[in-house]
Amino acid sequence: VRVTFVDAAGVAHEREAVVGDTLMRTAVRTGIRGILAECGGIAACATCHVHIEPPWAQRLEPRSETEEAMLELALEPDDFSRLSCQITVSPALDGLTVRLPAEQI
Ligand code: FES
Repeated sequence: VRVTFVDAAGVAHEREAVVGDTLMRTAVRTGIRGILAECGGIAACATCHVHIEPPWAQRLEPRSETEEAMLELALEPDDFSRLSCQITVSPALDGLTVRLPAEQI
């Protein structure tokens, strides 16, 4: 499954993601800068914040209440904001593109 992380400077980094892994783990494992993931993936830090490219946003499982609450702490969250540790890679997400925020809180 190919996923693309677009950094704050607008540079696209395409990566191979493993089905069943989270988007956060994919980023950390493949050396994407800008995903800090300080809590290790339990939706408790908001430093894995990403913006989902609009066509993909509706294809993801909805946010949990915990995720919603944590995103309020992120830098400039919007309707397309997600915690990347709460997104599990599936074959349906092949081609997924996300943008990284300028900073993690
Ligand atoms: Fe902490 Fe995602 S890694 S909220």
